[in-house]
Amino acid sequence: MKKYVHGYSDIEANRLNDQADSLAELIHHDSIWKEGSLVLEAGCGVGAQTKTVASKNKNCRFISIDISADSICQAKKVIESKGIKNVEFMEADIFDLPFEDEYFDHILVCFVLEHLPNPYVAMDKLKSKLKVNGTITLIEGDHGSTYFHPDSLAARRAIQCQVELQKRNGGDANIGRKLYPILAESAFKEIKVSARQVYVDDSNPGWVEGFTKNTFTEMIKGVAEEAIKKGLIDRETIEKGISDLYKTAEGGGTFCYTFFKGIGVK
Ligand SMILES: C[S@@+](CC[C@H](N)C(=O)[O-])C[C@H]1O[C@@H](n2cnc3c(N)ncnc32)[C@H](O)[C@@H]1O
Repeated sequence: MKKYVHGYSDIEANRLNDQADSLAELIHHDSIWKEGSLVLEAGCGVGAQTKTVASKNKNCRFISIDISADSICQAKKVIESKGIKNVEFMEADIFDLPFEDEYFDHILVCFVLEHLPNPYVAMDKLKSKLKVNGTITLIEGDHGSTYFHPDSLAARRAIQCQVELQKRNGGDANIGRKLYPILAESAFKEIKVSARQVYVDDSNPGWVEGFTKNTFTEMIKGVAEEAIKKGLIDRETIEKGISDLYKTAEGGGTFCYTFFKGIGVK
């Protein structure tokens, strides 16, 4: 089964976990909901964000859903292994949510809208399940925010392949900058969007490994064969691009990327 551009391999599951672990503080330091809240996590994947938000909000109850049964299975194992008790997992589709209207106090959607051909329809579906005065939290990246040293045309071309492949799948790898208009057009109130920048150099070896190498470069590596097959780039260029991305994680290299977190009230 392949329902989104990165697929559902073990490598991708590890990448999602590395991404979540290295970004936990940056994106979730303020993911705190009122005690007693019922929170829908839509598109939970392998539970990489679930473990962070559920542990931070021990007195909230989470229902975490994903369209992939395999991912739900993996997510359950992760949460059980950590002894987390406040999460219920379900295989479900954002476009056909099996809940009554106005059921949830809050909704979290992390790295999911970027893969959907119709994020506005998804927002309507999600909004209908949210109580009045409940909040939705959207977290997305934006590949247009990527820059690094040493700069490399091949690396930039490799990244562009990912953007193009995601677009051909109906998604948008540059969606981060659109969170404000998406929330506004979906008629949410009190919208607040914040840019969360990852800046990586040698002084932060955790991010060098967890973000530059294991999250970002791994993601570009993951689409290389498909990009070549679809004629977007030749093998030599994408391999050079990937090797140049690794150079940004070596002594003296730097890497910058910006995530966006948007919150709106129904
Ligand atoms: C990039 S992963 C992100 C997973 C997780 N939120 C995280 O940050 O690690 C995107 C997830 O969205 C799920 N997804 C895509 N379309 C969906 C839909 N219509 N309903 C539910 N989940 C969906 C995919 O199966 C995948 O697990």
